[in-house]
Amino acid sequence: MSVTVLVGLGWGDEGKGRVIDFLAPAYHIIVRFNGGANAGHTVVVDGVTFRFHLLPSGMLYPEKTCVIAHGVVLDPARLVEELAEVRRTKPNLARLLISDRCHLVLPVHKQLDLLEEAFRGGGKLGTTGQGIGPVYEDKVSRKGIRICDLYSPLLLEKIELFLAEKNKILVDIYKEEPVNPRSLQQQLLTFAQFVQPFLVDTLLFLQERLNHGASILMEGAQGALLDHEIGTYPFVTSTSPMAGMVSLGAGIGPKQIDRIVGVVKAYATRVGTGPFPTELRNEIGEGMRQRGREFGTTTGRPRRCGWFDLPLIQYALSANSPDELVLTKLDVLSGLEHLQVCVGYHKSNLPIKGIPALAEELDQCIPVYQTMPGWREELSGIRRLTDLPKNAIQFIHFLESYLKVPIRSVSIGPQREEMLLV
Ligand code: GDP
Ligand code: IMO
Ligand code: MG
Repeated sequence: MSVTVLVGLGWGDEGKGRVIDFLAPAYHIIVRFNGGANAGHTVVVDGVTFRFHLLPSGMLYPEKTCVIAHGVVLDPARLVEELAEVRRTKPNLARLLISDRCHLVLPVHKQLDLLEEAFRGGGKLGTTGQGIGPVYEDKVSRKGIRICDLYSPLLLEKIELFLAEKNKILVDIYKEEPVNPRSLQQQLLTFAQFVQPFLVDTLLFLQERLNHGASILMEGAQGALLDHEIGTYPFVTSTSPMAGMVSLGAGIGPKQIDRIVGVVKAYATRVGTGPFPTELRNEIGEGMRQRGREFGTTTGRPRRCGWFDLPLIQYALSANSPDELVLTKLDVLSGLEHLQVCVGYHKSNLPIKGIPALAEELDQCIPVYQTMPGWREELSGIRRLTDLPKNAIQFIHFLESYLKVPIRSVSIGPQREEMLLV
């Protein structure tokens, strides 16, 4: 397979990093194509935990090439920090290439992200505070500063124009101090030196490598329910986590995609605000949070937990057309006497069809559950799918039959060897 795209089908944190690390040996190149440092992808190797935010989760394989393509918004300070931190534990990393077309997340974007959240008050979105909304606004409204601008003789002029508007917003609306163009220029010139050895036109690089028979693994960030087109708007992110985003964010044509893998968690989680019909605000939800260590990889915030929501996942899935699914964190459900899976919604005692467009309406939907028997056994020592408890296998088959996409792998722990293949 030359191009495989892996995407999350929930509200993020499905275990994508872990699955990328598992699949990476079969590919030459691993690529991030969307999002920014709002992503937090965890990989655990021999008991050592690595958290990737901007770097692709294939970085731990020194013989691979990892690419940050132009669809990613890049925070210079975070990149420098992350590389240093990963290198401290593992000096020998993959070769890294970065697109010179990436938009830069500047300190003012992060400042505005926090100020806008505070401005929203009770209606806040619960963003990661990584400047994602503001930087994509600038990208789409054609005001952004890209890595290639750092080498332009017009850099200072571009910064001055950019800051003229930003400073007006900071000072007039938020009563904050303005940003000095020369000091931002200085910071950016320091970063320009650091990043220069990594820069290429990643679209051309990937297309050339494909022509020479290379295989590429595309690592989606976030999850389809956070997509601003089909997700739970406005409680979404500002980039697209969908498989189709590969074409825009990495320059791979839709016809060049050979395989799409969707990642789903055995239950639902969400970090930040927004509708969550199957949320469990009780000891079962708390148990999932503790057993599944459901705390944000980027922000440390406790993740909200709830039952698997088939209608929502089906909605997200249909727009990604995955060939197969990876089911993660099945081990977390061990010990529950009964499991519930949402198979539809009721509103005012009547069944509803589809997914309401309004977040507040989705929030009021009452899930209709299918109850299934749970299992007591811990799963982490199991190495063959057929050795799973009968009720766990029944649970997998139930999800599969509703979603009509084969579940080809089941993850029962964060470590490399804790993946069962069908
Ligand atoms: P991502 O954003 O989709 O890459 O997911 P995160 O890394 O933010 O969150 C997934 C968390 O679950 C991480 O702490 C992983 O180490 C952990 N994890 C992944 N797969 C499994 C699994 O099958 N079982 C358990 N118990 N933990 C897992
Ligand atoms: P990974 O790649 C989980 C959520 C935030 C918030 C909303 C908007 O680790 O799965 P943003 O900072 O993007 O403007 O926040 O999106 N969010 C994520 N939730 N996992 C992520 O990434 C997320 N990236 C953004 O919590 O609700
Ligand atoms: Mg995450």
